[in-house]
Amino acid sequence: MTTVIERVDPADPQKNTGAIKRAAAVIKAGGLAAFPTETVYGLGADAFNPAAVKKIFAVKGRPADNPCIVHIAGMDGLDGVAADIPPLAYRLAEKFWPGPFTMVLNKKSGVPYETTGGLETVAVRLPANETARLLIREAGTPIAAPSCNISGSPSATRAEHAADDLFGKIDIILDGGPSVIGLESTVADLTAAVPSILRPGGITAEMLIEAEPAFEWLMSAASDEKPKSPGIKYTHYSPKADVVVVTGAPEEIADAIIRLNAAYIKSGKKTGVMATDETFARYSNQGARVVSAGSRYKMENVAAGIYRLLREFDRCGADVILAEGYPDIGLGVSVMDRLIKAAGGNVVRA
Ligand code: TXA
Ligand code: MG
Repeated sequence: MTTVIERVDPADPQKNTGAIKRAAAVIKAGGLAAFPTETVYGLGADAFNPAAVKKIFAVKGRPADNPCIVHIAGMDGLDGVAADIPPLAYRLAEKFWPGPFTMVLNKKSGVPYETTGGLETVAVRLPANETARLLIREAGTPIAAPSCNISGSPSATRAEHAADDLFGKIDIILDGGPSVIGLESTVADLTAAVPSILRPGGITAEMLIEAEPAFEWLMSAASDEKPKSPGIKYTHYSPKADVVVVTGAPEEIADAIIRLNAAYIKSGKKTGVMATDETFARYSNQGARVVSAGSRYKMENVAAGIYRLLREFDRCGADVILAEGYPDIGLGVSVMDRLIKAAGGNVVRA
């Protein structure tokens, strides 16, 4: 299959409505379109077309029981996909939509099980990215879209990443520039008596608690592992290289990484260090490829770059990536969730 790549100016997506129309035509015809969102790129299909949704699973190599998020263009789209919507959902939508926030609700009967991974619930998101919203409107149907990457590998935060993984396997890629948040949405389950976070993401637990007393218990429960989202049991976000996450005080993290790096190099491995601006200089002349993820005091910048950096280390042929850990607060929780999954749980305490 030939994959068409079309550029859309993120500052003015209306300038190239032709490209958006062509991607929408692909969706309407049951094809697959990669599109930008503010979190990561999505791989979209008509959420109401089971055959089209099945293609998403086939090209990604995604297990069939891992449901897709259904993307809507406005609040008017919510009723079409979800049923028994609780008042809490409307209050959260008011605060966090459009944006990096996904709500799991009871599904409307017409939403196919192919889209929901066989579940009676549906995950719904109203993205902030204007190109994404124009695409959904133009397609005239909600769009089912997981992150646009081969299952298990780092998510795509640029059109190039989508092309690296899926060129030749999908109909069109809308290139709308880099994803500004760089991490997936926060997934919250609103179907149980007590709402919970299934996946930390762009909206932090602190923001949820501030917005809604219903989430107050989250702080005390924050460290519990609760794998309720089907996707959580699978390997995720992993580059080809092995990843080791080193946690602790920043100075001690750097000491430990220098020691680990020397040991890996001695055993013949090509190493990469995911440093921070604060520690970058400490790793010079250690034989590793060193890249800064940004200042550890600006977690938005770190979040925006981690998938790109993991992919870059792979391109340079690193065998091992030594990544600095971050404090488990705010966006740090989401960044650590992704890094620890990329590392397959390989965490070293400095
Ligand atoms: O930011 C995002 O959420 C991106 C963009 C494209 O919107 N999408 C994304 O999709 O990250 P994906 O498929 O990579 O992750 C969706 C997560 C998975 O862990 C999946 O298991 C969970 O949401 N999920 C989807 N539907 C669910 C449901 N009905 N119940 C529980 N978890 C659900
Ligand atoms: Mg994903």
